[in-house]
Amino acid sequence: MTHILSAVAWPYANGPRHIGHVAGFGVPSDVFSRYMRMAGHDVLMVSGTDEHGTPILVAADEEGISARELADRNNRLIVEDLVALGLSYDLFTRTTTGNHYATVRAMFEAVRDNGYMIEQVTSAAISPSTGRTLPDRYIEGTCPMCGEGGARGDQCDSCGNQLDPTDLINPVSRINGETPQFVESTHWFLDLPALAEALGEWLDEREESGTWRPNVIKFSQNILAEIRPRAMSRDIDWGIPIPGWDDQPSKRLYVWFDAVIGYLSASIEWARRIGEPEKWREWWNNPEALTYYFMGKDNIVFHSQIWPAEMLAHNGQGNRGGEPGPFGILNLPTEVVSSEFLTMEGKKFSSSKGIVIYVRDMLSRYQADALRYFICAAGPESSDADFTWAEFVRRTNSELVAAWGNLVNRTASMIAKRFGYIPAPASLEPIDEELLRSIKAGFDTVGPLIASHRQKAALSEAMRLVGEANKYVADTQPFKLKGEDEETRQRLATILHTLAQAVADLNLMLSPFLPHAANDVDRVMGGEGNIAPMPVIEEVEELDPEVLTADFDGRTTYPIITGDYSNAPTWGRHEVKVGREITKPTPVFTKLDEAIVEEELARYADAVPDDVTGA
Ligand code: MF3
Ligand code: ZN
Repeated sequence: MTHILSAVAWPYANGPRHIGHVAGFGVPSDVFSRYMRMAGHDVLMVSGTDEHGTPILVAADEEGISARELADRNNRLIVEDLVALGLSYDLFTRTTTGNHYATVRAMFEAVRDNGYMIEQVTSAAISPSTGRTLPDRYIEGTCPMCGEGGARGDQCDSCGNQLDPTDLINPVSRINGETPQFVESTHWFLDLPALAEALGEWLDEREESGTWRPNVIKFSQNILAEIRPRAMSRDIDWGIPIPGWDDQPSKRLYVWFDAVIGYLSASIEWARRIGEPEKWREWWNNPEALTYYFMGKDNIVFHSQIWPAEMLAHNGQGNRGGEPGPFGILNLPTEVVSSEFLTMEGKKFSSSKGIVIYVRDMLSRYQADALRYFICAAGPESSDADFTWAEFVRRTNSELVAAWGNLVNRTASMIAKRFGYIPAPASLEPIDEELLRSIKAGFDTVGPLIASHRQKAALSEAMRLVGEANKYVADTQPFKLKGEDEETRQRLATILHTLAQAVADLNLMLSPFLPHAANDVDRVMGGEGNIAPMPVIEEVEELDPEVLTADFDGRTTYPIITGDYSNAPTWGRHEVKVGREITKPTPVFTKLDEAIVEEELARYADAVPDDVTGA
């Protein structure tokens, strides 16, 4: 048994999330965590909404409400969506909790005390017409690294380099097109060059492990060459106040020293909430623990450079030395598991242009597991992928409904009709033994594929076995064994028992991918329907109200996602119970009408046809 941390990227609470987001961080981390629990490991899966920073502020301004109101509303929507998808977080919290504020501030002090925070005068962008600070990502210009237009003041999406607004060639405000004015301002910079050597050693060692996706390790090593100090504070009045600068409320910590620390603060919050406040250390201080970070590729820098550098600085492990801070020696990431991008009908998702499918809309019309299946089978695991409605309908109908759903349905129908319960087998023939053997072997191939983040291959192997089971039905033709004589009955009993076992095995194997369906299939096969434990929403008390700023006056509770996942069955064959009652089944998966392709495309007909700005 190993301690496994599943650290899942924190979605921005500037709006509801679309299917591209959950394809990148959500579903893959859940498949992995569910499998690891079944394989007997001690999994801690944490995340939350990222609620500070300029995207929230700008969205709130547009609606004429406060940043906090906007964040409160979107946090709740996102929590509901992620639960509806069945994502099994041990804790999904938020960055606007007293616990997170306190963790971040303690981390800041430790990094500063070890000498890795340096004060520098920098130039801040101001809107000349309003006098307000212009957020980095609302400044646009030409990228100095690759020369592409449409680069933002924080990052260029064309080449992936992190930028500062002053790096941009011909900067303009994306809010009103004016040229920003730059004024002087003092900020805290993380001294990344003093941590570069330690980062490089860690990355080299990670490269040797051979487990990272090649493009992720290569990208991470490349950006090390460009390393320089990075501002960890911003001129903004929405964010975590900076220790020592509490008299300067319009300077706050930046997302690079906020949301990424959420992995640690959420682990601490989880431990406090279960009444074992030191238990988080089993994942963070124990060198045997394995830590996996899940995200889309625009987040690699956060996870393979900024966050490990912060931990090294806290641990006192950079060139300036130092002492471990209050959190002890923190484990650096075992693996940064980054997906590529999902597009929609060949176009980049863009909420502002209406080129978007929100998780909520999708789940109001289709089964959560149909979406999960598409993401796992055809998502952006290691290359960019495209969501099309035609392909969604095809995969749902031909793979989920016709292959897997049909196998379950036929098996349960025949058992219900001819026995009413799972019959005891007579003697197995080679064809029966062969099917049972190859499906049992599936546990040994599918499991390790999931553990090594090759979920597409894992799912396709499981579905290949579904195909074998369907072929077994075609070969043995149980529906033709109609006679009531002893010999026919015995052969039928053997075949149906074999099929019941095959369905139970395949259902378990598919349960990390299709947890809702797994429970439905289990029920169809006479079980209790709780083989895939489900997350729940709980409204909890704020733990440290005194730490929060006045922005949060009156907030006493907030929703979290949590769950008891300890009853997940172990990975491997569980013998089916002879005599278990099975009644006439109702189909688990809904077949989709081809007409939905046109209907769905029509919903986006008003969208701006081409993504010209890359926003
Ligand atoms: N909310 C940010 C984004 O979606 C950062 C997410 S990952 C985190 O890009 F670790 F920084 F939280
Ligand atoms: Zn660029």
